[in-house]
Amino acid sequence: MSVLDQPLQWDEALIQRYNLNGPRYTSYPTAPQFQPGFDLQHWRQAFAIGNRQRKPLSLYVHIPFCSTICFYCGCNKIITANRKRTEPYLAALKKEITLQAAEVDRSRGVHQLHWGGGTPTYLDDGQMTDLMEHIRAEFPLRGGEHGDYSLEIHPQSVTPARLDHLRALGFNRLSFGVQDFDKDVQTAVNRFNNEAEVAELVAASRSLGFKSLNLDLIYGLPKQSSLSFAKTLEAVIRLQPDRLSLFNYAHMPHLFKAQRQIHASELPEPQEKLRILHNSIQQLQEAGYVYIGMDHFALSEDELTNAQRNGTLQRNFQGYATNGECDLLAFGVSSISALDGLFVQNHKDIEAYQQALEANHLAFDKGLCLTHDDLLRRQVINQLICHFELDFAEMESRCEVRFQDYFAAELAALQPLAKDGLLEIDEAGIRVSNIGRLLIRSICMVFDTYLKTNEQNTSLRYSRII
Ligand SMILES: C[S@@+](CC[C@H](N)C(=O)[O-])C[C@H]1O[C@@H](n2cnc3c(N)ncnc32)[C@H](O)[C@@H]1O
Ligand code: SF4
Repeated sequence: MSVLDQPLQWDEALIQRYNLNGPRYTSYPTAPQFQPGFDLQHWRQAFAIGNRQRKPLSLYVHIPFCSTICFYCGCNKIITANRKRTEPYLAALKKEITLQAAEVDRSRGVHQLHWGGGTPTYLDDGQMTDLMEHIRAEFPLRGGEHGDYSLEIHPQSVTPARLDHLRALGFNRLSFGVQDFDKDVQTAVNRFNNEAEVAELVAASRSLGFKSLNLDLIYGLPKQSSLSFAKTLEAVIRLQPDRLSLFNYAHMPHLFKAQRQIHASELPEPQEKLRILHNSIQQLQEAGYVYIGMDHFALSEDELTNAQRNGTLQRNFQGYATNGECDLLAFGVSSISALDGLFVQNHKDIEAYQQALEANHLAFDKGLCLTHDDLLRRQVINQLICHFELDFAEMESRCEVRFQDYFAAELAALQPLAKDGLLEIDEAGIRVSNIGRLLIRSICMVFDTYLKTNEQNTSLRYSRII
């Protein structure tokens, strides 16, 4: 039986030993490697390759606004009660969409569209209609239910009537941020989601025909205990979302100012935090959820689970995805595009972003053209993080290197991890063990060449694995 079909194993001593700080590998190389002074010519060339190959598109639209601050938040957001701030932003966003669309061969279908934030539903219904119509005018969105068109929702910002409107706009997948239903936890993080209201929204989404629902949860929040979180999970399981994200709360107040309002003394002790995770995994598996990999669970008949079974699962900025063949075009402040062999990121500062577009320029701030070595390592990390096994011959057929020679140092560095039971290496390839799945970041980090040169920054920049 493949490890994918087995319940996750738990080995506390091993988990403690390998619970280091490390990247989440939503990209490789990771964002800290992006460099300022990005040459637009590289972007044009990558765009032209995508056009020639008629690669399908995945569009990401970032809406940064939120009406209240959740103290734990590590996202790129702007908290404001001044709704007028959306106007210049939407004008800039629409211009950016037009400027990028001008370069796109219109025979390329949009397989995926995702609005993230911040809180996309901070916009009112009219603004959302206007933005979607603009996207539709500029890009060939697929008709019917052929595309995966999703958005992130703070439950307090919508009603069943608003969901109806979103469905009419063409969205067919929703992701609700729940985080935790416990009242004390909610007060400690200033984030309030009433269980009954979420249940009403989930029921409405189903009857409106949204084909997939995801709920976000966070473990490790202040005032959380294994007992309290088990109750939240019970309620969540009753709602039967197709997918679940169970994020590890990353307490990094030196990076995220809002987190300074969280009292470190109220955070669960490391031992209790591990118990919350362990119990949650058990509870979810007993309820029929499959552990996909880092932070993600899905029902066994979900497309994500199927993609993992048939070897087509991919990792991208939203976590795991089924549309790996696409060029990712991103719009909005701080958003990151991923084209053939390059990443490019927009300004993180909203004024700089808007000013660039007011002057009719794209708002790129940083980027990276991937070297041959980056591309190889990206494939290796993607393969391991999505499928937990890597076949040398299969990789060599794609990469034109002899794997065991090219990665001799990495294979040697993996030996202690193999001795500890995280994986097996033989002449044919690498197979991550059942217990190794939870610690996949430690395994991927061995292939990350940039960590070797920036080791001293790792603990400041990245969260703990578990
Ligand atoms: C952009 S937010 C989702 C949309 C919407 N703003 C909301 O809050 O419901 C994306 C998700 O990131 C997660 N998240 C935010 N900050 C985090 C942190 N510091 N550690 C772990 N997860 C975090 C939350 O689960 C949140 O739902
Ligand atoms: S968690 Fe969501 S709603 Fe809360 S501050 Fe972050 S982006 Fe905004």
